[in-house]
Amino acid sequence: MKTILVTGGAGFIGSHLTEALLENGFKVIILDNFHSYYPPIIKRKNIEEIHLTMNNRKIPLSNFLLTEGDIREESVLESLFNTQNIYMVIHLAAMAGVRKSIENPLLYFDVNVQGTLRLLEKCRKKSIKKFIFASSSSVYGNNNKIPFSEKDSVDKPISPYAASKKSGELLCYNYHHLYDMSIACLRFFTVYGPRQRPDLAIHKFSHSIINDIKIPFYGDGSSSRDYTYISDIIQGILGAVHWIENDEIKKYDIFNLGGDKSISLKSMVETIENTLNKKADLQLLPLQPGDMKITSADISHSQKQLGYMPTIPFQEGIRKFITWKLNSLKIKEQDYK
Ligand SMILES: NC(=O)c1ccc[n+]([C@@H]2O[C@H](COP(=O)([O-])OP(=O)(O)OC[C@H]3O[C@@H](n4cnc5c(N)ncnc54)[C@H](O)[C@@H]3O)[C@@H](O)[C@H]2O)c1
Repeated sequence: MKTILVTGGAGFIGSHLTEALLENGFKVIILDNFHSYYPPIIKRKNIEEIHLTMNNRKIPLSNFLLTEGDIREESVLESLFNTQNIYMVIHLAAMAGVRKSIENPLLYFDVNVQGTLRLLEKCRKKSIKKFIFASSSSVYGNNNKIPFSEKDSVDKPISPYAASKKSGELLCYNYHHLYDMSIACLRFFTVYGPRQRPDLAIHKFSHSIINDIKIPFYGDGSSSRDYTYISDIIQGILGAVHWIENDEIKKYDIFNLGGDKSISLKSMVETIENTLNKKADLQLLPLQPGDMKITSADISHSQKQLGYMPTIPFQEGIRKFITWKLNSLKIKEQDYK
């Protein structure tokens, strides 16, 4: 059985990915430090859900290992890489979030760049040749050309977060070049769905509408995002796993994983309002520094190489997200009774 190390596996995307890898017959090791960027209890719940899925699918407990620790800590990596026969690393652990990176750029570079370098170094030392890196659409900055293609220049990041992700891609290329590693860098475009991070707009807005909280609404509503439903992202990551496994040639490439179209902020709020059948209370504010005006993915390269094809339209994805959100609120209420 092949073992995949998923860093950041207790988080939003990582917990879904772990379930999918287990279902696809891999052994999965999660390395996560349960960072308090958002409440760690949410990540504990994600781990519980992984166990539940394993139970339902009758996946043996021995196929899953949770290691609590920091990707920057040598002793943690040393004991993990020395004791486990790791076949591939899928590196999702990061400080995410554009605005917070402007407040604390040193931390973002420490985790996202130094942390990535430490993992690549461990792979080199242990001759692990397969690596997937979670990059981001934010590397495109205020790209004028729509949709964004992997061939576009990404030399003008507009936030420390974006610069850290671009740096991660550069390190990945370097390790591919020097040490014959096969590496896929995946540029995720705003991912949403059940377990979405509470700091991301769709989650924040839904939470505020449900709880009658005023919503800070930045700009005139025309800024737009290419939203990607979580199950589509997971299909894309699995596509990258197969792409790396497919042949023995060592390769490096970058892939956009986006949805099917760009949705304006205004229309995103309206879709949530319609789904909840309740109006938002908006507090109009100017656009924030570091925020991109638009993201839009050209996915033709991923389609061709990874067989990537997003299938969940935005309205359906929002419906699924809201159903999950309302259910998890119900569960919380029951917990307190
Ligand atoms: N969610 C999105 O829309 C999106 C978009 C583009 C890129 N990404 C990237 O995808 C990856 C996963 O994002 P997510 O939304 O699931 O975020 P998340 O915050 O839910 O998951 C990241 C996980 O990494 C862990 N982590 C942070 N620092 C760590 C460290 N030093 N050592 C070990 N673990 C650490 C956190 O505890 C968390 O569980 C990140 O690299 C993020 O930058 C996400």
